[in-house]
Amino acid sequence: MSLQGRIAIVTGSGGGLGRAHALYLASRGAKVVVNDLSLEAAAKVAAEVAAAGGDAIAVAASVTDEAGVAAMVERTLAEWGRVDILVNNAGILRDKSFAKMTMDDFRLVVDVHLIGAAICCKAVWEPMRAQGYGRIVMTTSSSGLYGNFGQANYGAAKMALVGLMQTLAIEGAKHNIRVNSLAPTAATGMTEGVLSEESLRRLDPALVSPGLLALVVEDAPTRAILCAGAGNFAAAHVTLTDGFYAGAGGRRRRARSRGLGRGDRPGGRDRPGLRLHPGRARAGQGRFRPPMASWSPAAARAQENAPGRGVPGAFQFSLDGRA
Ligand SMILES: NC(=O)c1ccc[n+]([C@@H]2O[C@H](COP(=O)([O-])OP(=O)(O)OC[C@H]3O[C@@H](n4cnc5c(N)ncnc54)[C@H](O)[C@@H]3O)[C@@H](O)[C@H]2O)c1
Repeated sequence: MSLQGRIAIVTGSGGGLGRAHALYLASRGAKVVVNDLSLEAAAKVAAEVAAAGGDAIAVAASVTDEAGVAAMVERTLAEWGRVDILVNNAGILRDKSFAKMTMDDFRLVVDVHLIGAAICCKAVWEPMRAQGYGRIVMTTSSSGLYGNFGQANYGAAKMALVGLMQTLAIEGAKHNIRVNSLAPTAATGMTEGVLSEESLRRLDPALVSPGLLALVVEDAPTRAILCAGAGNFAAAHVTLTDGFYAGAGGRRRRARSRGLGRGDRPGGRDRPGLRLHPGRARAGQGRFRPPMASWSPAAARAQENAPGRGVPGAFQFSLDGRA
């Protein structure tokens, strides 16, 4: 999976996962813009890329600063002529239980993760549309996908990024702009003291970056959500059960014959058709092969169009063998 000739911007890459991503993308041939709040941190990583034989420039800007981000994209276009890849990686935490969280901390976290990513997407959107090529990755989190104590602000912002991905992927499709999400787990400044020493030892950020690569190469999927950590990779899906048609009043017999749980049936615990029955949700997920086989747009389309398999964003990809 080569990125020869591709130009990538990685936000918040002065350390942690962003640094690992910048080094990895550069090792695959991409020229990389290393962005962070501090020029010193960004320049250090850019020097590491250069020392490894790659090309990088360091740009200090906050992703929340529209003018600063616009200037970063203009500089990239002036130096290298295009922007092929945007990795929205910059992030912060302000963890507290919701009871103790201030709205200022809620807004700040949403501002950096969600609004910051939207600002960066907006800044590269026209260049990507004009060149008919773009690969964008949102850095989401299991805290957003599934929740985590003390992270109401962060989880809300991280899941909002999945929503941003869904629509940008639809709007970008005809311009060959593909948009995906990465949910990493890694030992970085962000997880120091949060995870156990034993876990942190296994969670080298560099083990996440091959997953990022699969989301930004030419034959990348679109609308995929990839969980990655410690060398494990798994796709998460926003899914839907088959449901049933209740008509004006619903028919208990039909619902029962389709094997729905009580809560799915008309007259069951919930309103008809609105409850995701865990058993069926699991059965639906089980129809998908693990995300290790080769991904192709045709295969993904066939999978999505197969009867009863309509999970948007289903994908398969390869992390090995096609380096
Ligand atoms: N480490 C994990 O296990 C984990 C889990 C899930 C999601 N993530 C996400 O991965 C991304 C990277 O996190 P990390 O673990 O490497 O943390 P980190 O703290 O090591 O790195 C985050 C980087 O973003 C930079 N940054 C913060 N605000 C910025 C802004 N406004 N503009 C530009 N840069 C800014 C920081 O200076 C820092 O270098 C984040 O989006 C984080 O939410 C991390």
